[in-house]
Amino acid sequence: MITKPKGTYDVLPEEVKSWTKLESTIRKICQIFNYKEIRTPIFESGQTFHRDVNDTSDMVTKETYDFKDRADRMMTLRPEGTAGTVRAFIENKMYVSALVNKLFYLGPMFRYERPQKGRNRQFSQFGIEALGSDSPYMDAEVIALGATLIKALGLKDVKVKLNTLGDKLSREAYRAVLIKYFEKYKDELCEDCLNRLEKNPLRILDCKVDRHKDFFKNAPKITEYLTDASKEHFDKVLAVLRQMNIDYEVDESLVRGLDYYSHTVFELEVNIPEFGAQNVIGAGGRYDSLVKDLDGPDTPGVGMAFGMERLLLACEMAGKKLGTPDFVHIYFIALGEEAQQVALREMQVCRIGGLYCDMDYLGRSIKAQFKSADQNRAMFTCILGDNEIKNNVINIKNNTTEEQETISLYEIYPYVLNKINSKSACASCKEKEVTE
Ligand code: HAM
Repeated sequence: MITKPKGTYDVLPEEVKSWTKLESTIRKICQIFNYKEIRTPIFESGQTFHRDVNDTSDMVTKETYDFKDRADRMMTLRPEGTAGTVRAFIENKMYVSALVNKLFYLGPMFRYERPQKGRNRQFSQFGIEALGSDSPYMDAEVIALGATLIKALGLKDVKVKLNTLGDKLSREAYRAVLIKYFEKYKDELCEDCLNRLEKNPLRILDCKVDRHKDFFKNAPKITEYLTDASKEHFDKVLAVLRQMNIDYEVDESLVRGLDYYSHTVFELEVNIPEFGAQNVIGAGGRYDSLVKDLDGPDTPGVGMAFGMERLLLACEMAGKKLGTPDFVHIYFIALGEEAQQVALREMQVCRIGGLYCDMDYLGRSIKAQFKSADQNRAMFTCILGDNEIKNNVINIKNNTTEEQETISLYEIYPYVLNKINSKSACASCKEKEVTE
């Protein structure tokens, strides 16, 4: 039997509903915050991600799926959405038509990681990127969008942890002090950290292997080396988060796993024991030199991305059911061939009007068709036989109230629409609202 590749998964029909519900919630929130969707290729030329030989992030150095295409060009399956979005921003000169571009994306990403619960080799991200403003209020907006999504999904116990990496000057000053500090512990650093010591000592603070060692706790903190401008930027982010009533915790050891960040960095952590080490459901930060590094005009940026599997897992663990159970507005019970044809005709009218309809295509007994209406959780059942056709009428049953009426065959659509719009008429109408 051929099986799926390690670290991938199938989304079966019964699980698709939670995905589409999550996607529609995300789209709605992006609309509320005025972020526009962008769709970029799933593979990009290798240099989109492998542009800096000094990059020390695991994602870029160890986890990308790289391959040569048939014309011997190096390609990379995107491990994240930021670099591709920035590449598209530059290539399409999006900076010409708008001073600030607020973008979002949804889609699969690929990282060659050790798979475990909440960590896959193919996973999906929802990400946002705001390009063109260096305002701390933009950092706050990005975090606020994340917090709003968490709220909309009904998740509690999500902690926003944030820190600042300051501007270039702050990082240079901090870098020098950090190198001096960690050199004293060279013998105790893992191989990766020894490499980071030369290239990007800040990333040592993020090391999964070394971070619990004692000498880490006493490592110098970036806050002591921030320039006034960097400090002011971060203070404004925090102040406005407080004004927006978004709880946060400043974590001075937070540096994030990617090399492109400057100023604000943050992570959203869920407090669910089953999550273990994969409790970061979303993360991001400011990246003021990435656009320039990718040969674009000097443009500041800030963004974040959520792991969609982790969001769904968090909802599941918290007992939040995303998506609504299946139902149809009308199930047509047609007795005889002519009735089937008429039912199809009337069903088409209702479907064009946006009502969910179905009927039995097996020509079964009335009892079997009623059972089928139940299984499809029909709000209304329309019963059509020879007599009804002769008189151009139909029997319609409201399955919530058990009321039954005979109405004109041509009135089915307005009748049902009217009922589901007058909310009290039908309890299941709530479901219609949720799916919209
Ligand atoms: P990241 O922290 O690498 O940041 O990933 C963001 C989120 O994607 C993580 O918090 C996690 O929820 C999810 N994630 C990452 N790797 C996996 C995996 N192997 N399996 C399942 N979920 C995963 C970025 O990707 C940045 N591009 C975020 C950003 C946008 N920064 C600025 N703009």
